[in-house]
Amino acid sequence: MSTETDNRRYWDAAADHFDDEPDHGLRDPRVRSAWETRLRSWLPTSPCDLLDLGCGTGSLAQLAVADGHRVVALDRSERMAGRARAKLAGTDARVLVADAAHPPVGTGGFDVVLVRHVVWALPDPEAALRRWADLLRPGGRLVLIEGRWGSPPAGISADALAELTAPFGGSTHIEHLAQETALWGRAVSDERYAAVVRPAPRSSRRHTEIVDVHLILLRGEEVLLSRRHGTGYADGLLHAPSGHLEDGEDVRSGMLRETREEIGLELAPGDLEAALVMQHRSPEGRARIGWFFVARRAAGDAEPVNREPDKCSGLGWYPLDELPDDMVAYCRAAIDGYRAGHRFLLHLHESGDTIAYAPDGPARAVPLAPPGVPVSGV
Ligand SMILES: C[S@@+](CC[C@H](N)C(=O)[O-])C[C@H]1O[C@@H](n2cnc3c(N)ncnc32)[C@H](O)[C@@H]1O
Repeated sequence: MSTETDNRRYWDAAADHFDDEPDHGLRDPRVRSAWETRLRSWLPTSPCDLLDLGCGTGSLAQLAVADGHRVVALDRSERMAGRARAKLAGTDARVLVADAAHPPVGTGGFDVVLVRHVVWALPDPEAALRRWADLLRPGGRLVLIEGRWGSPPAGISADALAELTAPFGGSTHIEHLAQETALWGRAVSDERYAAVVRPAPRSSRRHTEIVDVHLILLRGEEVLLSRRHGTGYADGLLHAPSGHLEDGEDVRSGMLRETREEIGLELAPGDLEAALVMQHRSPEGRARIGWFFVARRAAGDAEPVNREPDKCSGLGWYPLDELPDDMVAYCRAAIDGYRAGHRFLLHLHESGDTIAYAPDGPARAVPLAPPGVPVSGV
């Protein structure tokens, strides 16, 4: 689904038959009872304020209302929301038509945010989860029922989801559900789970962010850039070979590993020179620390090769003093900053900025120390 409108149309078209699936319509009393039992185990025992995001036809909202919870349900599809309204008619539940990623409700007003089979379909699940955590009262919880199903598999794995909720501190409890045939009305062999996430109070949450490493590979006055492809982030744009640190890895080992994995070069630790550290924030508000290392290629050295054609459509050497415009903005700012002698930069996008470098756009790089000696490629 390429756009928001396509997505809404898709779910509008699905609304009339959505409840035919046993776990959607809960028409079979055994399936209904299995969800009733599970839902009770994930929700507070006394009546609470619950927000059901991407509620579909409202089957889970209906179970929550029957147990006395005060429910606001929300879906972006008019037709899904219409079905949910019909199911919840005569109750105090409210059904809104809105984007689950930006719920039009106040912060701190809910005990539970309930989401089933929606996180995987959002363009930026990390940002949505952060917003949802902010909707909770102290002691509140997110109940996220997700999985990975179909071929090729769609969805989000429990490990990936737990990684997204880790920055909230508190706890993420995963319950695997694939074995519980009664929930699905049939045997399933894919991944199904519920994650009950209890974020730590905001005041005690430590700031965490991803660390990534980038290679400024120089050949004379040229730099190697790779064109991103099929990754879901900055596809089509040029970027330095880069990647995230793995758990417990130091930045130099991570850079050597990424260099080997992405461009097939076996560098030695001594080949890498720490060039610049940048704290970067995306237009959606996600921050990360990027370590940029320089390595140099001389005549006769092995040429880099594209080892990840599923993520990169090609490698190329570009003049350092005339970098291409179709680059990831922060990468370009880092290379320009390094050449100008900077070693520590902030690069904080504002909402509405583009990930791509914009020649006439705002300059977001802020040096944190006086520049050293400007650097040439040789
Ligand atoms: C797989 S269905 C799940 C419905 C319901 N949660 C359930 O489990 O029965 C996904 C639902 O999420 C809704 N949806 C998808 N993206 C959404 C978004 N960004 N905002 C609100 N609803 C969304 C769709 O319209 C659809 O009703």
